[in-house]
Amino acid sequence: MIQTTSILDLDKAKNWLSQHLSHERFEHSIGAHEKAVELAEKFHLPIEERERAAIAGLLHDSAKLMSPPDLLDYCERYNLSIEDMDRKTPQTLHPFVGAELVREAFNVQDPDILNAIRYHTTGRAGMSRVEKIVYIADKIEGNTRNPLYIQKMTSSLDFRNGWSLDLTMLYILDSTIQFLMEKHQVIHPRTIEARNDFVSRLRAEKHL
Ligand SMILES: [Fe+2]
Ligand SMILES: [Fe+2]
Repeated sequence: MIQTTSILDLDKAKNWLSQHLSHERFEHSIGAHEKAVELAEKFHLPIEERERAAIAGLLHDSAKLMSPPDLLDYCERYNLSIEDMDRKTPQTLHPFVGAELVREAFNVQDPDILNAIRYHTTGRAGMSRVEKIVYIADKIEGNTRNPLYIQKMTSSLDFRNGWSLDLTMLYILDSTIQFLMEKHQVIHPRTIEARNDFVSRLRAEKHL
């Protein structure tokens, strides 16, 4: 278990989160942190990437409690360009504002950590290993996610020999898209782009 990192004092970060999030969202953040650490070890990420995944997993929802008008205000304040799709679905803005909060509150400048926070909701084409770990950890952490939801997300996963991080991402993205379609919810174009990117890569590598 990672207790501290060279980039950030995790106890200090947990204390900050406990003051800025609801109890449930705080527990979710701890769950995502622990799952990110577990997955980063499982997929043999180098130690510096494990640390980045641990930090981004913990801090990914820093702006989750902000209201849509506040998120839009913060986007203007931080000069963040907002795509039309994000404007229509302001909940997809909390990762971008969250990355800026983390930069401001903790002086975290590492681009991999900030991008893992930015793309934890939708994914994107060309994700780094740390981005993938945080994306998955957010979806399947065990503290607050509904067990049936986790089972739905993970029922096709097989972590035995040769099971790669990219294959895991494809299955989680497919499950997420199916889940959203069943509920007749909007699917963000970045999620489709991410999914198609993994299909192309895995086909090119003859893993599909
Ligand atoms: Fe989130
Ligand atoms: Fe989350």
